[in-house]
Amino acid sequence: MRPEEEWDGAILRELSPEWAERVIFLEECGSTNDEARRLGQKGVGDRAVILTERQTAGRGRRGQAWACPPGEGLAFSLIVRPSEVAGLWSRAALAAGLAVAEALEGFGVAAGMKWPNDVWVGGRKISGILVEAEVEAGFLVVGVGVNINVSDFPSDLAHPATSLLLEGGARVSREEVLISCLGRLDLRLAQISEGFHDLLARWSDRCVLTGREVRLEAGGVTKCGTVEGVSPRGELLLRTATGLEVISQASEIRLR
Ligand code: BTN
Repeated sequence: MRPEEEWDGAILRELSPEWAERVIFLEECGSTNDEARRLGQKGVGDRAVILTERQTAGRGRRGQAWACPPGEGLAFSLIVRPSEVAGLWSRAALAAGLAVAEALEGFGVAAGMKWPNDVWVGGRKISGILVEAEVEAGFLVVGVGVNINVSDFPSDLAHPATSLLLEGGARVSREEVLISCLGRLDLRLAQISEGFHDLLARWSDRCVLTGREVRLEAGGVTKCGTVEGVSPRGELLLRTATGLEVISQASEIRLR
């Protein structure tokens, strides 16, 4: 059965002209990140949004799949052309997660950040972000997936998941969540080159790991310790038995 609110091309007419001219809607694609990379290579400009209803090969971080039933979530990717791609990649990941958390808060949930960019509500993941860099072509792709009206999740997910529907008990307008996310993304992504200090402070306010004991893998080594927050560069600060470690990339982080 077709989900009652499945989007088609009419979604563009429902968006305000400002947004409609930035959004490229695809009823189905493999991954919006792949479409954004393809379009970015062709010169599609800064802040263009590739939005779809169905991803047949949605991707998460670390090669995981990202699935969302049509009509129940958001899957889109933003093309971002910063002043410098390689150096600003990790900042964009933090900025995007924070932006989505701030947007979701407007829909009644207390959204926290699990480093680097998972958005968590009540210990469950509600949104995931996949930032990819096309260094030579000079752009980033910021892919965003949000669980909005999802009521069932597969039992084999790496982490427990939730949605706005499960948290609030009522369906939420996906158009409204989309517009709110895009507005916050514009604001926070503008801060990756100027204003990162403020961005990081707001990100830290929402960090769900600070003070918690975790186990993670970095560079093939398992590390256990207590999270002390993030560095001025956005790296994770982990206090282990041997001292303070600065983690720039890690596999799945598990609370202990
Ligand atoms: C993660 O938490 O592992 C990241 C998930 C990112 C999913 C989004 S959905 C839109 C965009 N297209 C993709 O293939 N992935 C991202």
